[in-house]
Amino acid sequence: MDIAEKVFIVTGGSSGLGKAFANELVRNIANVVITGRDLDKLKQVASDLGSNCMWFHADMTKDEDLDALIEFTLDRFGRLDGIINNAGIGGWSPLEELTREKMREVYEVNVFGAAMLASKATKIFKKQNHGAIVNVASTASLSGYKYGTIYSSSKFAVRSMSQCWQAELRPHNIRVIQINPSEVPTAFGQENRDEKELVANKLSPQEIADVLIAALKMDPRGFIPEVTVWATNPF
Ligand SMILES: NC(=O)c1ccc[n+]([C@@H]2O[C@H](COP(=O)([O-])OP(=O)(O)OC[C@H]3O[C@@H](n4cnc5c(N)ncnc54)[C@H](OP(=O)(O)O)[C@@H]3O)[C@@H](O)[C@H]2O)c1
Repeated sequence: MDIAEKVFIVTGGSSGLGKAFANELVRNIANVVITGRDLDKLKQVASDLGSNCMWFHADMTKDEDLDALIEFTLDRFGRLDGIINNAGIGGWSPLEELTREKMREVYEVNVFGAAMLASKATKIFKKQNHGAIVNVASTASLSGYKYGTIYSSSKFAVRSMSQCWQAELRPHNIRVIQINPSEVPTAFGQENRDEKELVANKLSPQEIADVLIAALKMDPRGFIPEVTVWATNPF
């Protein structure tokens, strides 16, 4: 797909991977609406990226915010070509310390928020007979690990949703693409929300953004259902 002049929503576009996605989309002359809850961060990223990037304050846990986000995007740009379900939070705990609240908090964003935005966008994509849904999952969606009950299971759920949507939406020319990054130093999992320093032998958000752009740019007759990105030698 030629992504120039196309319109994408990047959830969690104010930080880390989402910021890199927005940056690469804008560099490829696409229009982007970034979302998040921290207004200062959103405004700063949108202002850094220029007039092809707009911000919209939307909490993934609130359906009314997601409705308003879609309405805003259509109002400003008159079209929607893809959503990048990137907003996500972590949560780890030994099994015996698990709480329903923490599990629900993570699922509200990683699973329910992503599902509801995709559901709303699909109404538009089906009508226009094209669209892209990109789910940013994780290598944690591929195998479980110690203390991963909450986060890993939420990303397994995302992987299952990606596969269900692929089966459901291909006849409507809607491409559902899942990206599984391995560890990338960002603000992810940081109590203070400070971005971590990049490390020479670990991944950076740029590699994940490069994958996103390559997958979107593929001719619409083909699509990449799932791609996993590892650091070559993080040891
Ligand atoms: N970093 C890694 O090692 C890694 C590895 C694999 C997968 N991932 C996945 O990649 C995605 C992005 O992670 P990242 O590393 O870029 O983390 P990040 O820097 O912490 O960014 C997360 C983004 O999500 C937004 N967000 C969080 N909760 C939200 C909510 N309720 N509503 C709306 N926006 C919300 C945050 O903005 P606000 O806080 O302002 O709302 C922020 O923009 C996540 O889905 C994560 O699971 C990350």
